[in-house]
Amino acid sequence: MTSERRPLIVGNWKMNTTLAEARILAYNIVHLVGVPKDVDVAVCPPFVSLPIVAEALRGSPVALGAQNLYPAESGAYTGEVAPNMLQGLCSYAIVGHSERRAYFAETDEFVNAKVRTALEYDLTPIMCVGETLLQHEAGETTKVLQTQTMGGLVDVEDVSMVVIAYEPVWAIGTGVAATPDDAREGIAVIRSTIADARGQDVADSVRILYGGSMNPQNVASLLEQPGIDGGLIGGASLNVEQFIALVRAAEERERE
Ligand code: 13P
Repeated sequence: MTSERRPLIVGNWKMNTTLAEARILAYNIVHLVGVPKDVDVAVCPPFVSLPIVAEALRGSPVALGAQNLYPAESGAYTGEVAPNMLQGLCSYAIVGHSERRAYFAETDEFVNAKVRTALEYDLTPIMCVGETLLQHEAGETTKVLQTQTMGGLVDVEDVSMVVIAYEPVWAIGTGVAATPDDAREGIAVIRSTIADARGQDVADSVRILYGGSMNPQNVASLLEQPGIDGGLIGGASLNVEQFIALVRAAEERERE
């Protein structure tokens, strides 16, 4: 099945890897991944490793992404990184990851500012949405996904430029991925929310990834679900063999 939306496999290294480790991991990925067929691949190392990883990725089809950005060009924002510092270096920027929502109190409004800023600076935002375990058990998944999706896309003119990642919080780093049915249903909610607000064509053009304990064992069953356009991968992206296996699974899906 060849979908019009090109699959995307993104490694989110989170707060892992020293400079030396990041460099080795990037070189190993480049070496083993070759030229992925009909699949886009990106890695998002910690900020300090971006230049060294960019160097390792030079000439390879693997793109570079940041894990965050601040929605201002400069100023008194100690510890933050501005979009113009990332422009030209990165292709993607993760925004609104649940870890940032939970530990750094990021609101939908703030995530929305980051989405708009990323687009302004030629960075493709990978906007994360997802419900917590409590919300999941309370049957609030649909409501949460609708609110986070629409909240993040306020005043975004070209929604098709945004990548969305459905990351159920209870599936992140737990080893318990969402079932393929849950992942498909969550993504269907996100897509229909966009369709209602912006039209079906726009909704059909948006790439929506699944994230949360994706690994070589469960990847095929997740990617075979209609509407799942790839993965945002944490733990398994730190292991080169596992990460490459996920890229291969996405290639495989495109061949079927
Ligand atoms: P894990 O793959 O480690 O569950 O992390 C998923 C994630 O949060 C990617 O952004």
